Amino acid sequence: MMIIDILSIFPAIFEGPFSESMIKRAIEKKLVLINLVDLRNYTEDRHRQVDDTPYGGGCGMVLKPEPLFKAVEDLSSKSQIQSPRVILLTPRGRRYNQDTAVELSAEEHLIMICGRYEGVDERVRASLVDDEISIGDYVLTGGELAAAVIADSVVRLLPGLLTNDSLKEESFTESLLEYPHYTRPAVFRNMEVPGILLSGNHQEISRWRRQQSLKRTYLSRPDLLKKAPLTTEDSNYLEELKKRDFDQ
Ligand code: 6GU
Repeated sequence: MMIIDILSIFPAIFEGPFSESMIKRAIEKKLVLINLVDLRNYTEDRHRQVDDTPYGGGCGMVLKPEPLFKAVEDLSSKSQIQSPRVILLTPRGRRYNQDTAVELSAEEHLIMICGRYEGVDERVRASLVDDEISIGDYVLTGGELAAAVIADSVVRLLPGLLTNDSLKEESFTESLLEYPHYTRPAVFRNMEVPGILLSGNHQEISRWRRQQSLKRTYLSRPDLLKKAPLTTEDSNYLEELKKRDFDQ
């Protein structure tokens, strides 16, 4: 079972996202144990102070080092494994993507520290943390939502949650955008499901889906095509696309 400790001054933020759907099921199936840790439990003063004003002046508050070190040391000492991987969520980190999700899903024990927007004492970054991760180029008020995003994307990869087929399909179409999906009814407000999907010809359906993925990726995320593994047929199709004019 994978263990994910999440250290935060707002642990209640996670109650919603982890108590529904797939993550809930993963917890019930004991594929993962998500341990929400209130950083204030590791303070020693009367006011349970977790942050303080920055040396040198400036606005905002900085997370103090003592509670973070105490918490990580306590959680590490209780761990079954030698050294759990300690990750700080911060907009200064390396950018998170599906490759990182796959990498983290192989870990037995993750400790995620949710930074606050203003910052975390540098000594935490320098000597407590193995890895700093950001989920994108925008600013959140804290690392909590980023930690929820990472936990979600890592947990869904754990063996035993999704079917092998859906993960295999996902890795085949890796770095391409998904093809369009349809379900009943076949006609809705005059909009028809593409005839090919009703044809029963699986080879043609696969080809159509692949081309739709390529087309969507070309139109919305051409940067992804650079690292996508493409067949000769894919490349020929893309060459054809480039000659076309698009109105959608
Ligand atoms: Cl991990 N933290 C914050 N505060 N903002 C972010 C982020 C993390 N990733 C993207 N923006």
